[in-house]
Amino acid sequence: AVDDNEIIGNVAYSPVFIAEKPDFHGYILAPLAVKPECQGNGIGSKLIDAGIKRLRSMNVTIVFVYGDPRYYERFGFKAELATHFITPYPLEWPFGWQALLLGEIEEPNAAVNIKCVKSLNNPKLW
Ligand SMILES: CC(C)(COP(=O)(O)OP(=O)(O)OC[C@H]1O[C@@H](n2cnc3c(N)ncnc32)[C@H](O)[C@@H]1OP(=O)(O)O)[C@@H](O)C(=O)NCCC(=O)NCCS
Repeated sequence: AVDDNEIIGNVAYSPVFIAEKPDFHGYILAPLAVKPECQGNGIGSKLIDAGIKRLRSMNVTIVFVYGDPRYYERFGFKAELATHFITPYPLEWPFGWQALLLGEIEEPNAAVNIKCVKSLNNPKLW
């Protein structure tokens, strides 16, 4: 998010992978931040809404996030759905692991491990 040539917010989305399911098409939303003095003006929401719209157009079926459920629930993220997917590292706050379904996915019989891109492959982030 840019205002008057200044970056005031940023969000990144990156793919996640399941070794046994090469066709799996999931992404993770991380990180998200809005400059403190610009918060509360809908910028975070716009970054999420725009990102999800773009992921839908790419036929992504599920989006994960690790953050405060009180914020992310308003976008439809659910902790229950995420319990089927095991994070790359143990979570400091397990209740923050959530997922949003964008398309149809095969419900896993048992929880499956997901892998993330190198920049998120850091236990301190989880
Ligand atoms: C979370 C964050 C990106 C939201 O950005 P924003 O531009 O202020 O978001 P919006 O203006 O779209 O939404 C603001 C609303 O979210 C609420 N909110 C923000 N953080 C929240 C949280 N952790 N829990 C619950 N609600 C939260 C605000 O109270 C406000 O509520 P309202 O709509 O009822 O007034 C921003 O607060 C931020 O950068 N925080 C620090 C970094 C961070 O926590 N990032 C998320 C990591 S997963």
